[in-house]
Amino acid sequence: MTNLYGKKISSSAELEIQIDNLVEKISTLTEDINDIKEPSAILGDEIGLLIKEYEGNRGRPMFYPYIGSGSGKGALVELEDGSIKLDLINGIGINILGHSHPEIIKASLKGSLQDVTMQGNLQPSKEMIFLQRKLVSLANKNSALNHSWLTTSGSMANENALKMCRQKTNGSRMLIAMDAAFAGRTTMMAEVTDNDTMRVGLPRYNEILRVPFYDKDNPKSIENSVSILKEHLEKHKGDICGFMFEPLQGEGGFKVAPREFFVPLLDLCKEHKVPVWADEIQTFCRTGEFFAFETLGLGEYIDICTIAKTLQGAATLYTDELNPKPGLIAGTFAGSTVGLSSGLAVLNYLETHNYMGKDGRVVKLHNEFVSMLQDLKETTCKGLIQDVEGLGLMVAMTPLDGSKEKMLGLLKALYKNGLIAFGCGRGPFRVRFLLPATLTSHEIQIARKVIEKSLQGFS
Ligand SMILES: Cc1ncc(COP(=O)(O)O)c(C=O)c1O
Repeated sequence: MTNLYGKKISSSAELEIQIDNLVEKISTLTEDINDIKEPSAILGDEIGLLIKEYEGNRGRPMFYPYIGSGSGKGALVELEDGSIKLDLINGIGINILGHSHPEIIKASLKGSLQDVTMQGNLQPSKEMIFLQRKLVSLANKNSALNHSWLTTSGSMANENALKMCRQKTNGSRMLIAMDAAFAGRTTMMAEVTDNDTMRVGLPRYNEILRVPFYDKDNPKSIENSVSILKEHLEKHKGDICGFMFEPLQGEGGFKVAPREFFVPLLDLCKEHKVPVWADEIQTFCRTGEFFAFETLGLGEYIDICTIAKTLQGAATLYTDELNPKPGLIAGTFAGSTVGLSSGLAVLNYLETHNYMGKDGRVVKLHNEFVSMLQDLKETTCKGLIQDVEGLGLMVAMTPLDGSKEKMLGLLKALYKNGLIAFGCGRGPFRVRFLLPATLTSHEIQIARKVIEKSLQGFS
């Protein structure tokens, strides 16, 4: 972080040296984390009790018996039980630079030394100012987005976006969203999310209009979605506040759509003056450009965009036209100082180390990882992988018969064998990987062995 305006603490050369020493120390302490490792038998009982206690406190079982130790290196993470696992989900997309990345530790240490732990909208410190400057400059490169409002979760960023869309359209009620969308966990975002298992017992507000996402197996997919959108636009004229879409569906199954799918839909929205909202909470930084709307060449259409996860916080980005009247959005927290400082470090690192662009590291890593999975599919795991799909650091495969039961079974087997992934989709059910951008060829080879062994356990 630049010390341009910093006073006592930020500009202390002595602290700078001590921070560098600490970063060095962490790197020495994690030196021997180079491969996966079984849990320690001695620690087993103790960790088992800790997990039971935690499960009791939260009132439901954990998906994985995971307690992080606080140490890791790259894609490898050490658990409290002494095991080392390959983390290919990184907190569902938080840690894009993997574990114990020196730049992130440095930024976190700097953030942690500031006078406040949390920053708010009334009294921002320089971490907030610099992060917002960065976000606006990245977003503005290929779109008209030129404002950003920080908050602490993707769901809250989405709530802010929805309010802005509604205010802009004079209180219009209906939101167009896609089939299989995932938008978060607030009351309204549970409504936008197209998954009944995530809103059991909740009333329906009937404010969402659905348009089918791209279906690569249906030659009439684009035509079909366009005609459904037209119907909505006609039927609910004057009462539609926005069109929200994930450029690549995350929870919905890592489904990719080509630019040609979105263009006619977004043209229609523009024609009808319906604000276009890209939910990039999962895709941000992952598709080969900072924004998937850039990867897809859709920047000219975007009025509002939400991001989170990789940002170590969350933000709503918007154009002048969507800028809300004072009073509509606010809130105590904008982010933790550590989160704001390390969020900026993530963006700076990705920007200055050749991750983005057609020849960037994200694209290269995607190709290497997908080739590994394709090779398994065609050789030692024939018949055990149905397909492999994704974009950039978001890769999914449909394993076995594509059933939920088999997918869950495979996730547990992968975990036991040393690899952490997660599920997505609603049939077929898929195993998804949110690859750290720093994943190495050595780590990809570890992944290969674990995936092969785990899949073969089902044959
Ligand atoms: C596309 C999308 N929107 C919204 C959210 C909700 O974000 P959060 O969990 O930070 O509230 C997520 C989280 O996975 C997401 O993937």
